[in-house]
Amino acid sequence: MKKNATDFKVKNQKVIIRCDLNVPIKNGIIEDDTRIKKSLDTIEYLINGNAKVIILSHLGRIKDENDKSLYSLKPIAKRMSELLYKEVKFIPFTKGVEVEDAINNMKPQDVIMLENTRFEDLNGNLESKNDMELSKYWASLGDLFINDAFGTLHRSHASNVGIATFLPSAMGFLVKEEVEKISECLTNSKKPLVVILGGAKVSDKIGVIKNAVEIADKVIITGGMPYTFFKSLGYNVGLSIVDNDSIDFCKEIYKKYRDKIVLPIDLIVAQSISEYSQTRLTNRENIGDKEIGVDIGTATINLYKSIVMTAATIIWNGPCGVFEISKFSNGTRKLVEFLNITSAKILIGGGDTISAINKFEFKNTNAHISTGGGASLEMLEGKELPGLKVISDK
Ligand code: 3PG
Repeated sequence: MKKNATDFKVKNQKVIIRCDLNVPIKNGIIEDDTRIKKSLDTIEYLINGNAKVIILSHLGRIKDENDKSLYSLKPIAKRMSELLYKEVKFIPFTKGVEVEDAINNMKPQDVIMLENTRFEDLNGNLESKNDMELSKYWASLGDLFINDAFGTLHRSHASNVGIATFLPSAMGFLVKEEVEKISECLTNSKKPLVVILGGAKVSDKIGVIKNAVEIADKVIITGGMPYTFFKSLGYNVGLSIVDNDSIDFCKEIYKKYRDKIVLPIDLIVAQSISEYSQTRLTNRENIGDKEIGVDIGTATINLYKSIVMTAATIIWNGPCGVFEISKFSNGTRKLVEFLNITSAKILIGGGDTISAINKFEFKNTNAHISTGGGASLEMLEGKELPGLKVISDK
């Protein structure tokens, strides 16, 4: 069993905490601060325990010098200060004398945040390649390491895996909660278990589909993915999105698990992906040459309802259509409505899915909404997450 934050004596200790503060940000304005809020529990615990708290996080992907001004953690430190009602001192460096001086001058309960760890990617991808010297350096700044960045557990980077290799390490509260809830859904869930998988490319979800058909009673394939299945079954899909590299996979898996895999039976098709495009309802065998599948149809919505309302556990990753365009959003909106009234336990993950539940007012309190898209998907694939694997055992 992995150590968690409460297994450490943190008083007077310099505790490095890796958070996932990778939030949507435009011109320095934070568009959604959920991940910052979700990081507060462990940070408050450390402050109350009289630790010296050193926060690390990445933000965005840093490819050139211009990205630095777009993805500085400065606005995040400010927002965190507001939420904590306490100064989070921002140090605009990832290493060097300014960082070391700031840490040496810390008192118990002080909180500092260093600059975006991915700024080190401009130095030959040191962060993303889990460079040993950089990991050692960051580890040398603290006495203990807590990983509370659930969203980056599937990455093997210097600021998560690297530091944990050189310091006693533990999970933060968010990581513990997410890992426990997702693992429970995957291994110990009440049946029937229904997995709903949307998204565009089958190839991104091959591992998840393979695992889902093993553990679930029903696997609903929705969004853009059904069209690759339809093509593999010989239907005309018009101009709908097709992942040609996955046609053989779809054919094989559907042949083997056709009693579990649920594909849409009718669809909304459009002439183009635009609010002004003409649409029509059609069954899946009758898509026209110039038509694009953009949403599920009425019969499919009813089919999903019957499956969702009899499930005891539901895992959902990926919308049912191009929900960003209101004309094509009915299927996703209806699914949210069904999920709002089911008594099943629900696990929701993935950036697009979170946007959809926010847009359509998801309010079921019996749900776990994961902060990690990629990390939760890799758990659904049954993969071991490197950021978790490296955490010290009890
Ligand atoms: C996420 O947003 O999924 C995590 O923060 C990981 O970000 P990344 O895909 O840029 O590594």
